[in-house]
Amino acid sequence: MCGIVGYIGKQNAVPVVMDGLRRLEYRGYDSAGVAVWDGASMQVARAVGRVASLETLLTNKNWHGVVAIAHTRWATHGKPTERNAHPHADCTNSIFVAHNGIIENYHELKEALAREGHFFRSDTDTEVLAHLIERSFLMERGTMLLEDAVIETLRHAMGTLGIAVISRHDPFKIVAARRGSPLVIGVGEDEYIVASDVAAIVGHIKNVLYLHDNELAVLTRNGVDTMNVGKKLIHKPLHAIEWNIEDAQRGGFSHFMQKEIFEGPETLENALRGRLLPKDQGVKLGGLEDVEEQLKNIKRIVLVACGTSYYAGLVGKYYFEELARVPTSIEYASEFRYQRPIIEKGTAVIAISQSGETADTLEAMREAKRQHALVLGIVNVVGSTIARESDAGVYNHAGPEIGVASTKAFISQLGVLLLVSLFLAYQRSRSPILLTKVSRELKSIPAKMKRILEQDAGIKRLAERYLPYQNFLYLGRRYQFPVALEGALKLKEISYKHAEGYPAGEMKHGPIALVENTVPTIALCPKDTVYEKMISNIQEIKARDGKVIAVATEGDTRIASLADDVIFIPHTIDMLIPLLSVIPLQLFAYHTAALLGLDVDKPRNLAKSVTVE
Ligand code: M6R
Repeated sequence: MCGIVGYIGKQNAVPVVMDGLRRLEYRGYDSAGVAVWDGASMQVARAVGRVASLETLLTNKNWHGVVAIAHTRWATHGKPTERNAHPHADCTNSIFVAHNGIIENYHELKEALAREGHFFRSDTDTEVLAHLIERSFLMERGTMLLEDAVIETLRHAMGTLGIAVISRHDPFKIVAARRGSPLVIGVGEDEYIVASDVAAIVGHIKNVLYLHDNELAVLTRNGVDTMNVGKKLIHKPLHAIEWNIEDAQRGGFSHFMQKEIFEGPETLENALRGRLLPKDQGVKLGGLEDVEEQLKNIKRIVLVACGTSYYAGLVGKYYFEELARVPTSIEYASEFRYQRPIIEKGTAVIAISQSGETADTLEAMREAKRQHALVLGIVNVVGSTIARESDAGVYNHAGPEIGVASTKAFISQLGVLLLVSLFLAYQRSRSPILLTKVSRELKSIPAKMKRILEQDAGIKRLAERYLPYQNFLYLGRRYQFPVALEGALKLKEISYKHAEGYPAGEMKHGPIALVENTVPTIALCPKDTVYEKMISNIQEIKARDGKVIAVATEGDTRIASLADDVIFIPHTIDMLIPLLSVIPLQLFAYHTAALLGLDVDKPRNLAKSVTVE
């Protein structure tokens, strides 16, 4: 949700921040802008649309930046127009602010500042920050340090922010501050980068430090000082970035989403590596070692997550109950803290998040902490806020996921949820026969996933055939119900077609009214314990003239005679089928959007990391 990048150091700052901005674009992409201090004057450029539009605007400008900050926007306050694009400035264009977050009291602040004579140019909440900083400088007749003016501003501005600020009043520095929105600082040799996430830093600088809430960083050519809002210096450890530049590139695929779908088998292997012990000796999860004793005594699990992570959690609920026999519920993180949740003693709350920065999930997790629950995180991005604030957790090791539509992260989340439920099941001495069966079969899944990916061309042809249809139903039962929801989400978020995911048994209670020959149904019908029930549902659809695309188990001849089209997946045990059945749905959504010529990796109105509520 908005990407910020700033650079100070030995290189020309402009190409560095523009490169960073391109790699942060998945966080928001309705407008972009850059502010540059060239040693004598401030230059600024803003453009509506993608970072590429800003690049076009910069062509032939030949700016040489001593310091620069840049921003790619996901609009909250004010339309995506040039005047609302960041960085925002004060009255005299002396102070520039790039911001991620929401200033909740901006309206009152704006009115008060306007009464004092400040002149506003945009409809954004952010602009008040530039004017508040200006007011501090005016009060001190321009003699104060930029960090002091920012600290003063933080006292007045409520809400969430990650900001990078530059000013001609104190020009050879960037001041960054964080309250609720992520910021990471790259610390190199005589060069420093502040960014919303490591994607903008990787390839330039190897070591980073993470800012926590209510902390600031002052970046100069001589180093980085980190401090709290009382200006007390804080020593921060450096962390080496684990991802490399290739991880963040498309590598010959047309889109990141396509690459990430094809990374599914490797993603699962990475999630399991070193954790699923050989010779059926159980599961080793280093991130849970500190809370192992507490986990033995938990009586209940509550999963909190959003979007795709929520659907992974739905599968996880079944895992925890079937394997470990621990009662488990799952909640939309955005609802959880507003429903005054009752968290009994002995409850573990598990937050699932690819980015580790989703505001709703973070707040749900904080609510659970306030109620003294044991809080665990299942997170992909190392060092992210959810990872840091959980009592313990397990990383996904999926590598960077750039496509806004989550694909490989879902696979890794299922893998990790399985591992955690196996871990709890071993602790509770559940049937060794069952646990051995699941562990052994799990190891065979990556190879089976590859067999599905080999059908890519056939799935593309299917997407072509169904391109004219505008409405789709996705149905599944038991383990296939969350997959139906995830398949429908994938299709709607990137192709803008209407898709409804439903538990197949619920169809007769309403959605069957939608069935006609213009509304195809994607029926998840593998050979599992509810196979016969799904067959009956397919019959009901056929009886009403509906078209059916079935996802079925290899060798199932019965389904072939019933459905209009079939995608076959290899056989496996019920609880592992989601790892296979989701892949054709990811590919179907991908090809549909690509055939329509849509921007698959950056679908309209969305952003990869949703850091506002
Ligand atoms: O980073 P998170 O896993 O917390 O993100 C949660 C959702 O915003 C995310 O899964 C979203 O639904 C994706 N666009 C789905 O493809």
